[in-house]
Amino acid sequence: MNRTLVIAKPDAVERGLVGEIITRIERRGLKIVAAQMKVIDEKLASRHYEEHVSKPFYPDLVSFIGRSPSVVMVVEGPDDTWKILRTMMGTTNPVDALPGTIRGDFAYEVTENLIHGSDSGESAIREIGIFFPDLG
Ligand code: RTP
Ligand code: MG
Repeated sequence: MNRTLVIAKPDAVERGLVGEIITRIERRGLKIVAAQMKVIDEKLASRHYEEHVSKPFYPDLVSFIGRSPSVVMVVEGPDDTWKILRTMMGTTNPVDALPGTIRGDFAYEVTENLIHGSDSGESAIREIGIFFPDLG
């Protein structure tokens, strides 16, 4: 089995879309094996989003991701489960996201795009280690 990190971001929690997101993941046949509600503060954000720290959008990203709690999950499925999640999420900018994807059905703004999913197998391992260090 293979795992990826998924975050229902603050906008998803605020808008009551966590159930919708979890339902889609479960209906797809994937399994939630860990979950935690957590405020992703600046320190945690700088680890999780380390590749974006010097980008122009980083300040907006940090204030958004830390403004209220997120639901952080580990999702388990077949090889490259991260890729299945990325397809279900839709493109980073929801304006371009196809209907049927989470971003394409429920969002229209690049910062408030509802969901994070690891972007590779290596990222998944790194990110799961940040949020769930006790998970083997
Ligand atoms: P995420 O990491 O949150 O799953 O999103 P992603 O892979 O689709 O996009 P990524 O390139 O990793 O960017 C992380 C988050 O930063 C915001 N962003 N804003 N204004 C911009 O050009 C811009 N680009 C990225 C988005 O909120 C994105 O989810
Ligand atoms: Mg990303």
